[in-house]
Amino acid sequence: MTTIAQPTPTLPAPQTLAARRIAELGPRARLCGLYDALGAPLYQDLTTYDDYETRAVLAGIRSTRGPVLDLAAGAGRFSLPLLAVGREVTALDLSADMLALLRTELEKVPARMRERCTVVQADMSAFDLGRRFPYVLLGTTSLSLLDADGRAGLYRSVLDHLTDDGKFLLTVMERGDADGPDETVERLTGLGGTVYEFHEHWPAGAAGRTVTLLPADPPADDSPVPVCTDHVAVVDLSRLEAELSAAGLTVVSRQILTQPGERHRVTLLTTEASR
Ligand SMILES: C[S@@+](CC[C@H](N)C(=O)[O-])C[C@H]1O[C@@H](n2cnc3c(N)ncnc32)[C@H](O)[C@@H]1O
Repeated sequence: MTTIAQPTPTLPAPQTLAARRIAELGPRARLCGLYDALGAPLYQDLTTYDDYETRAVLAGIRSTRGPVLDLAAGAGRFSLPLLAVGREVTALDLSADMLALLRTELEKVPARMRERCTVVQADMSAFDLGRRFPYVLLGTTSLSLLDADGRAGLYRSVLDHLTDDGKFLLTVMERGDADGPDETVERLTGLGGTVYEFHEHWPAGAAGRTVTLLPADPPADDSPVPVCTDHVAVVDLSRLEAELSAAGLTVVSRQILTQPGERHRVTLLTTEASR
């Protein structure tokens, strides 16, 4: 089996609340990435299947028929609802741990739904599945996980997998508030009832943001506490559109999925191969 390296967790900047929380935990803190063996279950616990992005993606594919390639599919936030509405789905992800969670979810659904799903461990910046799709999806603003070379490889790979009239849909996240704080902390409740702190350090104009996820109320003992941290690049929309165009992908529609003034402005782009 091929072993694919996972990125190592990135520590939040020393002045942040997230860094203070890690220091308070001391040796109890088990630093991990969001998508590795320790972090993936926390990420999945916070997954929702009925949010603005999933609804927009499902609405977007109604105009096409046929199989869907879900890139950076994770534990199946989009793949599972797509299977539920009758689509054939190829779910591709780099993380064996995320794909293990997806396989567990697939075991819970009816066989006729599970059989329409192909699970592939691969790098979205260089993949070769030997077939084409009318619809390729890269949601959850996961494009930001790739550097410039990785994005160039992604565009090449996507073009090699799109049918002649195929569509590549992707979401991108920018700062939507002009004067919001550099750091925010949200309390989020997972499906299993655990309450988490989600820290984001994203100074306006910065080239990246650091996200940190940890249980808000760890037990008052010496047990280990998972702390997921990742540094994620920020790609602004105009730069992304220029990259897509240079790579041979034309943007045919733009849909802002969030409300004006929200900290996260998420745009869904629909693209197709330039003719
Ligand atoms: C933000 S999560 C999104 C997962 C899923 N789409 C969702 O919405 O829950 C990003 C996913 O990208 C995957 N990933 C990171 N780098 C990747 C790469 N180079 N190729 C494929 N998948 C990658 C991670 O393992 C993770 O599952």
